[in-house]
Amino acid sequence: MRRVVLEQPHKVVFCPDVEAPKAEDLKGNEILLNIKHIGICGSEIHSYHGTHPSTMYPVVQGHEYSGVVVAVGPAVTKFRPGQNVTCRPQLVCGQCNPCRRGQYNVCEHLKVQAFQADGAAQDYFVVTEDRVVALPEGMSLTYGAMVEPTAVGAHATSRPRELMGKNVIVSGAGTIGNLVAQFCIARGAKKVVVTDVSDYRLGIAQECGIRHTLNVAKTPIREALPALFGDEGYQVGIECAGVESSLRSLMETIEKGSDIIIVGVHAHDPALSMFYLGEHELYLIGSMMYRHEDYETAVREIAAGHIKLEPLVTKRFPFEEYAEAYNYIDAHRETSMKVMIDL
Ligand SMILES: NC(=O)c1ccc[n+]([C@@H]2O[C@H](COP(=O)([O-])OP(=O)(O)OC[C@H]3O[C@@H](n4cnc5c(N)ncnc54)[C@H](O)[C@@H]3O)[C@@H](O)[C@H]2O)c1
Ligand SMILES: [Zn+2]
Ligand SMILES: [Zn+2]
Repeated sequence: MRRVVLEQPHKVVFCPDVEAPKAEDLKGNEILLNIKHIGICGSEIHSYHGTHPSTMYPVVQGHEYSGVVVAVGPAVTKFRPGQNVTCRPQLVCGQCNPCRRGQYNVCEHLKVQAFQADGAAQDYFVVTEDRVVALPEGMSLTYGAMVEPTAVGAHATSRPRELMGKNVIVSGAGTIGNLVAQFCIARGAKKVVVTDVSDYRLGIAQECGIRHTLNVAKTPIREALPALFGDEGYQVGIECAGVESSLRSLMETIEKGSDIIIVGVHAHDPALSMFYLGEHELYLIGSMMYRHEDYETAVREIAAGHIKLEPLVTKRFPFEEYAEAYNYIDAHRETSMKVMIDL
């Protein structure tokens, strides 16, 4: 079978002839998948450049993927060969306190496949039943590979103390901010505004049905507030840009006593006033990947047509051209949203 290995930063190696895992070796709850599509994620580009804080090398990348079940281990009950599926890339211990509380997405020993364990950039891949979600009849395998970022949106929008009926600003209209904003609408928020510094990305947001957009490079949130929300203000801010100015503008404009969800990964710690935060009684709430129910919610909402994925697919590359896909993303930062690898 074929496999792509990131041997070290900037060295993507295509291996045409690696031994494939065998169906007869499957143990217990293991499932053998034939991988069909892989979406490339911004964090993997960081690993490619050697700027991801915790990537092992060499590593097989690929954690946003879909595939077809080839064979199942003797203890598998929910899946059968031929089914289209996607799978969570989280390896957790099941023993630590967060795991025992059901917060396994923040397991003390979490390993994410494609970063601290090998991922799906290969024709065949063995996963465990507990992490697999079936794709409903008629859902494309390309959408299946986009369930992962959609589940990030499902989880992030489950984090505010309350979202239904609230006014929301999502800061950052990359793939993640876009899906977070679509989920806010799907979950019944009152008015959802997504911001960015790129008109291109705000245009994609519009195509996805997010009607209210704001280019903060032209009009800062504070100036736009009266036009956006009248005298209602907004009660939920979701930070999806990962930069200080984005978090700062949310903190400085959100209604007192409100919730700000941190989704963006901040490479540099923002220098923000803790006095202001305390005095405004703001809730800063983290959001880490997803749990299984978020995957299921994501699949359900995509299938229901509440989450639009088509405008997010920028370009496709065949498996052999993994390295070209990375170069393409580097050369088209602003205009590439989701680049898809077809196996
Ligand atoms: N918490 C999690 O589980 C999780 C999961 C996946 C990704 N992430 C993180 O979420 C963030 C978003 O991911 P992405 O793939 O969409 O990245 P991205 O880089 O494509 O999107 C970020 C967007 O923010 C915009 N931006 C920059 N400065 C801004 C500002 N001041 N105000 C508003 N927008 C601004 C950029 O133009 C860009 O469109 C990243 O930091 C990523 O690492 C977190
Ligand atoms: Zn990702
Ligand atoms: Zn654990």
